[in-house]
Amino acid sequence: MKNTAATLLMRKQSGEKITMLTAYDYTTARIEDECGVDAILVGDSLGMVMLGYENTLPVTMEDMIHHTKAVARGAENAFVVADMPFMSYQTSVYDAVVNAGRLIKEGGAQAVKLEGGAEVCEQIKAIVDASIPVVGHLGLTPQSVNVFGGFKVQGKDYERAAKIADDALLIQEAGACAVVLECIPEKLADLITRELTIPTIGIGAGNECDGQVLVYQDMLGLTTGHTPKFAKRFADVGTVMRNGFNAYIQETKSGNFPSSEHTYSIDEDIVERLKEERGQNK
Ligand code: KIV
Repeated sequence: MKNTAATLLMRKQSGEKITMLTAYDYTTARIEDECGVDAILVGDSLGMVMLGYENTLPVTMEDMIHHTKAVARGAENAFVVADMPFMSYQTSVYDAVVNAGRLIKEGGAQAVKLEGGAEVCEQIKAIVDASIPVVGHLGLTPQSVNVFGGFKVQGKDYERAAKIADDALLIQEAGACAVVLECIPEKLADLITRELTIPTIGIGAGNECDGQVLVYQDMLGLTTGHTPKFAKRFADVGTVMRNGFNAYIQETKSGNFPSSEHTYSIDEDIVERLKEERGQNK
């Protein structure tokens, strides 16, 4: 059965942890869905892990729709949430509703996610009023990388911790169905999780959230260079891929691939006739 925002709420109420992973293509979405992940996030992290940008800022609505369509086709049961890219909702309430609508109507997502607190409550309310579920995103909000001056833990001092906790209440009041808490101290995430009636989904926010989300390239060992402390590596798929690619190169260069096992045959008489006709029998 297709998961919805109500499934996530039920998980919070029953105490069963919510599992969410990112995906950006049909094949990965299908595998995650078959494994039973509750929700799939088509994150604007695709700018970094799929398109090779330095941050998420260059990601466009067209990028998001293209990848969301592919994920939606692979997600039979998982709740599909699509990120609203930078400048698709900050500009006006009107833009926010139009662009959220495109992610649902053209992309096939069931919900949208957007970053920020008090400053985006009007947008959240308007999108929810248009019957589109909204997931909030607080703490380290990567679209504000130029304000934060890098990807750093947020909410370590009293003022900033209080602002994140207040924002969480405000976006809940505005109608958000869940909130992602990124890169904040565990005890702050715990306080917010207890205070909210909507589920919290943590990434680098400790074990007390109602659920967890990870970028799949990080948790499968596909990310090169620095990975954040919270990104536990659950498998080393990068090494599996490298071994596969190297074996293919080596077997192809040596002439061992393809062998008869991977080759189609034809009646010898036909080949002889063709050779005869083309003068290859001389
Ligand atoms: O874009 C993304 O992948 C995200 C997660 C880090 C939560 O927003």
